[in-house]
Amino acid sequence: EILSQNTKVAPAHHVSTANWAPHLLSVEQFSRESVEDLFRIADIMQPVARRQKTCRVLEGAVLANLFFEASTRTRISFGAAFCRLGGSVCDTTGFTFSSMAKGESIYDTSRVVSGYADVIVVRHPEQGAVAEFAEASNIPIINGGDGPGEHPTQALLDLYTMEREFSRLNKLIDGSHIALVGDLKHGRAAHSLAKLLGLYQGLKITLLAPTGLEMPASILDAASRNGNVIECTDNLASGLAGADVIYATRVQKERMQGEVMEGYGENFQINLRAVDTFCKPDVIVMHPLPRDSRPGANDLSTDLNHDPRLAIFRQTDNGVPVRMAVFAKLLGVDQQIQHSLRDISWVHPQKLG
Ligand code: CP
Repeated sequence: EILSQNTKVAPAHHVSTANWAPHLLSVEQFSRESVEDLFRIADIMQPVARRQKTCRVLEGAVLANLFFEASTRTRISFGAAFCRLGGSVCDTTGFTFSSMAKGESIYDTSRVVSGYADVIVVRHPEQGAVAEFAEASNIPIINGGDGPGEHPTQALLDLYTMEREFSRLNKLIDGSHIALVGDLKHGRAAHSLAKLLGLYQGLKITLLAPTGLEMPASILDAASRNGNVIECTDNLASGLAGADVIYATRVQKERMQGEVMEGYGENFQINLRAVDTFCKPDVIVMHPLPRDSRPGANDLSTDLNHDPRLAIFRQTDNGVPVRMAVFAKLLGVDQQIQHSLRDISWVHPQKLG
């Protein structure tokens, strides 16, 4: 069973016996089949996420969002996903507004909150801290990002976005060429995504990082399964050539501990000139966001904002249906959702894109 016996769910819920672990801590929990199953549910959730249909299957359920590190899209999209399924959200942000500021342990915090809610999303600056929450909790815990470790739901929505973008272009992820660009040492979204790409076959994965910010070797091993070819470079022109997807990432200065960052100048930036000069005409440009818009950051440029190749806002939009699908699987209501969506409630469809 996906939920332990002392796991609370709203009374109306039917807890299924789906093949999911009680917590979502790492993409390593996924097989190719379970990813595809999740994406099928995310597809079903799209009209709910877009306010074209309503679904109240989590009526009475409570999500606790515990974010001990800055977030805009992960916290809000998890909350929006839960609310659009009929549930309610309790938030706490930062250590200052948690009793951890008074010395409370992860164990006590997790055990206490698990008595109040039905599922908890945790973001924490230390790798492994979310797994510690899971050890003390009797309800499902979702990793919303643990330091430089993993960000599983971000990588799932990234992969989902790739699949949808490729579908529009009559391409498949299998056999494609994906370029991951930027701070691949500290970028937890890139770590989770590289591991998930290892579930696909015949990929070329280019890891384009400046010296000192290269992808950890253990993640290269996971990405290179299934005959995938990994190429590491710090040359933008050759790294971007032939790529179907550019996945740019921010330099995570908040995680650096005296590392010297060499070569991350303007010649490393993904901008209109680089895309027009080095890339295939139908390349897809992605980024987990936030992008650093401060002078000298050389993150993904805003000069691509109105370019159809830029998928970043389609990517953020996909955060809601993918996170709805995660809740549906973890709380065992995925079958109920499919039935409830037979009753269609249209909400201002003329206003929707
Ligand atoms: N991609 C991502 O995790 O964004 P936030 O930090 O805003 O949640």
